[in-house]
Amino acid sequence: MHEVIEPKLVYEGAGVLLKRSFGPSRTNRFDPFLLFDHFAFNDPAEGPLPGFPTHPHRGIETVTYMLEGFVRHRDSLGNAGRIGPGDVQWMTSGRGILHEEMPESGPEGRIFGFQLWVNLPAAQKMSAPRYQEIAADDIPVIQRDGARIRLVSGELDGQHGPVTEIAAQPRYMDVMLAAGAEFSLPIPPEHLAIAYVFEGAGEFGVGADGRRERIEAVRMAVFGEGDHLRARASEGAPVRFMLMAGAPFGEPIVPYGPFVMNTEAEIRQALADLRKGTFVSS
Ligand code: CO
Repeated sequence: MHEVIEPKLVYEGAGVLLKRSFGPSRTNRFDPFLLFDHFAFNDPAEGPLPGFPTHPHRGIETVTYMLEGFVRHRDSLGNAGRIGPGDVQWMTSGRGILHEEMPESGPEGRIFGFQLWVNLPAAQKMSAPRYQEIAADDIPVIQRDGARIRLVSGELDGQHGPVTEIAAQPRYMDVMLAAGAEFSLPIPPEHLAIAYVFEGAGEFGVGADGRRERIEAVRMAVFGEGDHLRARASEGAPVRFMLMAGAPFGEPIVPYGPFVMNTEAEIRQALADLRKGTFVSS
């Protein structure tokens, strides 16, 4: 195991409490991924939910995956809607998008979901913005021995996730293993692989030696050089994790709030475009 991360509580937007495993940083240690947030409001007594009022993005793709509750959204492309349990929203900001994301509790008063940010390569940072919304029913479910996998993007067992044309071509999936069940996935050696364990506990590893390390919810495991990701649920209990893997772009990044560009001049340009009102050009 390269690294085990304990998510930190942070406030974002208009005061939304999140568990953040990592955020955008010049060190770009998680290339091609930039951020992973877990939002879980489990106490109805918390009162009205704050959200993410209108804000810009440039140079990234954001992926929202819901398990409970809803996120209502609206953007400068004219999209508006609400994603719910099992749905995915994949937003490519390209050169510029303005959107709002407002969480709503489900029937149990809970909200539970994840947002992943994926980088765009320099050549695509100023591309046209794009938006994909995928209903839960359109996400393939792959059953293996004791394993149930919802495939959001990338290939697994000859099936393909419905989210396509993502610059980093990442694999992103929700993996549920019954007690004692095993899962393995080939990982090209140059790819970064990450597992975010949010229920139960299991043993994880990527090396040819088959060595595995126990990871308990809620923790993120970042894997080092290897060829196969191997996971096994504990004998007594199931484990569930989000798995993401992709090839690094290997480009320098300069993050600034909701923008991730390659140079400081490009960040200054983004701020100037916002001031001039030309951020979202048609
Ligand atoms: Co946003």
